[in-house]
This record gives sequence, C-alpha cells and structure tokens, in this order.
Amino acid sequence: MSKKKILYDGKAKTIFEGPTLDTVIQYFKDDATANNAEKHSIINGKGVLNNSISDYLMQKLNEIGIPTHYIKKLNMREQLVRKVEIIPVEFVVRNIAAGSIVKRLGLKEGNVFSRPLIEHYLKKDELGDPLINEDHILNFQWSTRNELEEMQEYGLRINDFLRGLFFGIGLKLVDFKIEFGRYYSEDGNSILLLADEISPDNCRLWDIKTNKKMDKDLFRQELGGLKEAYQEVANRLGIIPEKKNYSSAKPEIVK
Ligand code: TMP
Repeated sequence: MSKKKILYDGKAKTIFEGPTLDTVIQYFKDDATANNAEKHSIINGKGVLNNSISDYLMQKLNEIGIPTHYIKKLNMREQLVRKVEIIPVEFVVRNIAAGSIVKRLGLKEGNVFSRPLIEHYLKKDELGDPLINEDHILNFQWSTRNELEEMQEYGLRINDFLRGLFFGIGLKLVDFKIEFGRYYSEDGNSILLLADEISPDNCRLWDIKTNKKMDKDLFRQELGGLKEAYQEVANRLGIIPEKKNYSSAKPEIVK
C-alpha cells in the first residue's frame, strides 16, 4: 500500500490524501464514540462493516440521481471519494421520535411523526454540535439560501428512498444524519455533493417486528451486540464483507 498523508483524523474515519488533487481516501476506523467522544471503544470490524454498508447505500443514492462524493470502494476499509469543502451543518431527518429530540421536547420514544422532520445542527465538536435554525445558517453564511433549499430537498429525497429500501429488509428508518460538501470544478463553480457516510453509526434502524435497535444506540445505551447488529444489517442488504481478519487492513500512515 502506498504511503498516504493524513488530511484529517476524525472520530470514526481518517481522511487521507487521494491519488489526484480532487480526491481523498476515507478510511473507516473501528472506533465508536458517543456523547461527543466522552465514551469511546474499539469495536473490531465496525469500520469494515460501515465501509461496505456506506459503499452500498451511496451507490444506490447515486443511481437515483443524488449527487454524492462517492467514487469507489478501494478495499475493506477505504473508499475513494471526491474532495469537497464540507458545509458546517449536519442535517438530521427524523421519521420517529428517538434520541435527543425525545429529551429536548419531552416526546415519547417511538412516536411516528406525521411527516419527516428536518433539523439542523452546527458541526462544531467544541460546542457539542448545537441545534440551529435556518436563520442562523443564512445569517452566518454557512450556506446560501439556494444551497440550503437544495440540501433540504436532497434530505427528504434520501429519506424517502432509504425508508423504502430499509422497509424492504424489515427495518424502520427512525432517523439519520447527513452532511454535504461543495465540489469545485475547474471554472470555480461549485456543486453540492452528499458527503461523509451513511451507516448504522449515523442512522437509527429498528427491526420492524421486534423494534430491536440495530444501530449505534446499542453502544450509546450500553446494550451490547453492536457488531452483530451491523453484520445483520449488512446481511439483510445482501452485502457480505469478505470474511478476513477485519483488523488486518491497516494503512501505512505518514504524518
Ligand atoms: P440525535 O437524536 O442524537 O440528535 O441523533 C439523530 C441522528 O443523527 C441519529 O441517527 C444519530 C445521528 N447523529 C450522528 O450521526 N452524529 C452526531 O454527532 C449526532 C449528534 C447524531
């Protein structure tokens, strides 16, 4: 494997320099964090599973016309993606009450919303990713109005599509978080691309029959069985990552 320079080392992924100036490599780690990294564990194989699940979902989204940063899966832990300027807003789309909204608004977990709800959070770990509204985004110029409308529209389309896809394999898509980035062409114009990853790390997935949680809440709530649940999601999607030693695919790191 060629030596690669780290551009950014995140909680669950490391971003390496790509083979061309307009690409980067996303390396999926086994680190699991919660409560803004107050809680941390290594779950062997999580990165391999998330790489496969995200690879599959990003390809499906590309096929239905959602522009994504995804180019191709390189190996068990790495994806080649387009280099984008990340918009510092996390978009959360919710179908069912769970997680932070339950506490914040005193809702009952499991209540189904009459229509999907979009929330915006500032992507800033130091502040614990606070909830923000559209006016904050426009006022502080984190995105333009056109970009905001486009991202919200993509969020709802992604939700429609993924809800159906997960329903087909016996899972409820409770909520998910997505991020977008600007991809600049040579003439200096930019287009929005769906970035980051889509995996059980940033979705809530419940089994339709039993309501069993099949996502990172198993780690957040210390319920156990996270790797088995992610494996089950991958199996139901028809993705079986190669049965190798999951921890063997380590990059050669140059800082
Ligand atoms: P929340 O209920 O904790 O606000 O999370 C909503 C969804 O967003 C849930 O599927 C988990 C995901 N999420 C992330 O992927 N990263 C984060 O930093 C947070 C806070 C949530």
